[in-house]
Amino acid sequence: MIVLPGGVRRYPGYLDRAEQEALVEVIRQVVSVAPLYVPVMPRSGQPMSVRMTNCGMLGWVTDRDRGYRYQETHPVTGAPWPPLPPRLMEIWRDVGETPLEPEACLVNFYSDEARMGLHQDRDEREFSAPVVSISLGNACLFRIGGLERKDRTTSVRLESGDIVVLGGDSRLLFHGVDRIYPNTSTLLKNGGRINLTLRRVNPAQ
Ligand code: SIN
Ligand code: FE2
Repeated sequence: MIVLPGGVRRYPGYLDRAEQEALVEVIRQVVSVAPLYVPVMPRSGQPMSVRMTNCGMLGWVTDRDRGYRYQETHPVTGAPWPPLPPRLMEIWRDVGETPLEPEACLVNFYSDEARMGLHQDRDEREFSAPVVSISLGNACLFRIGGLERKDRTTSVRLESGDIVVLGGDSRLLFHGVDRIYPNTSTLLKNGGRINLTLRRVNPAQ
């Protein structure tokens, strides 16, 4: 484990190739029940370049009229999200450093052209638990900033199998994905990158 600026924890190569392949299979099953859709930004209605879905009790969604939020159902199919796969629960327990269980897993699919602007993960009601982020497929350039948008940033290249944890003092740091590096992994047949972020949304009951 390596501590990056701001206290972000990074576990390079946490998942070996076989574990990455198994996780991709798990995600394929999630996507077969809860298809990837194109999220749009609040107010502007501008489509994001990343396609999304979720698993777990809750899923993070965004649309033009109702903005960023968590909800129990898929915005297109209306069905409940598929359950959090046991392997993801296990990873959370291993690296999360929290007694709370995860409630949501956002699945982001990046084509090689996709990116994600600098943002904070702050739609949760509980910040004592971390956001646990798993990278699969092509490498990306991940940018980490401070608690304000204008703060200095540093960039790290994340590889398939890496895990990053935004927790404690780093929980609310700005972050984003500047670019995907095409052809840097053979995990996904058609290229691109999958990012899974496990989150706790609600305070302990
Ligand atoms: C996110 O911030 O939701 C995604 C981060 C990533 O793709 O690594
Ligand atoms: Fe995020």
